[in-house]
Amino acid sequence: THWKHGGIVGVFGYGGGVIGRYCDQPGMFPGVEHFHTMRVNQPAGKYYTTDYLRQLTKLWDMRGSGMTNMHGATGDIILLGTTTPQLEEVFWELTHNLDQDLGGSGSNLRTPADCLGSSRCEYACYDTNALCHFLTNEYQDELHRPAFPYKFKFKLDGCPNGCVASIARSDMSFIGTWKDNIKIDQDAVNKYIENDAAYPANAGAHKGRDWGPFDIQKEVINLCPTGCMKMDGKELKIDNPNCNRCMHCINVMPR
Ligand code: HEM
Ligand code: HEM
Ligand code: SF4
Ligand code: SF4
Repeated sequence: THWKHGGIVGVFGYGGGVIGRYCDQPGMFPGVEHFHTMRVNQPAGKYYTTDYLRQLTKLWDMRGSGMTNMHGATGDIILLGTTTPQLEEVFWELTHNLDQDLGGSGSNLRTPADCLGSSRCEYACYDTNALCHFLTNEYQDELHRPAFPYKFKFKLDGCPNGCVASIARSDMSFIGTWKDNIKIDQDAVNKYIENDAAYPANAGAHKGRDWGPFDIQKEVINLCPTGCMKMDGKELKIDNPNCNRCMHCINVMPR
């Protein structure tokens, strides 16, 4: 490869959001003499209108390479590849016409990222979009101007299923859980046990497939990581202080 890590580039007033890339053989590869990445702060939950996406891709076709990464590992919209003179132009267009801001990079606070939470997911234990939006606004200064010796990330999962893997990927991880004891609908549990067609076991990516007849002992009770569940006749019992809220039983029996 012929890349070098070249100096600091950015937009006026910001200490991040642009990652400078230069080719060390500009004579041989003039098309990628500069190939800077711009990070754009994605909206909480990553909701867009098609109109907005058209405007963004049109802007990037005109002023950058046209290549994007929707979304980067950071959470941001990643615009891959432009030259130094285009940076302010893109920034002006984003902030004045698209109501959009740059994200974090380097030793900034990084753009907070969340799962879509209660906007779409019934497992959500709090409104991740609201908290993500709040943190983004509250820490605007830290998001744009490097205040730390190293990067810092907030990521927000609505429940322990961890769809943004906040525990692995952030410095401050928010994971929703329930305050009180786990709620059990005993009638529904018995419908699952009876293999009632209106109560198909397995949710999410495991939904809608033929897993054979459901066996609560094999598929739920034996797999509870803390062994805190048991059937007492027709009643499912959970020893709440020993439940570590892993979500397994809820994922298998979503009712
Ligand atoms: C000498 C050249 C390069 C250096 C020093 C470099 C360094 C880095 C660093 C430090 C980051 C993390 C930035 C941050 O989080 O603050 C990063 C991200 C990344 N780089 Fe590079 N990089 C180089 C070239 C490349 C090239 C040539 C590619 C692709 C062919 C590439 C692809 C990526 C991607 C995909 C990310 C993650 C962006 C995201 O999803 O957040 N990099 N790189
Ligand atoms: C056995 C080989 C590989 C494994 C196990 C692996 C694993 C992973 C994992 C776990 C992540 C997600 C990290 C996170 O977001 O927390 C990731 C992201 C990524 N991997 Fe790999 N990877 C492999 C090979 C490759 C190769 C060969 C490439 C490129 C040529 C590649 C490019 C990337 C990029 C660009 C991302 C970030 C995607 C994004 O922007 O969200 N990986 N990889
Ligand atoms: S982390 Fe939980 S609340 Fe968020 S999308 Fe995933 S399953 Fe739903
Ligand atoms: S949430 Fe996990 S630990 Fe708690 S009862 Fe269900 S399977 Fe067991």
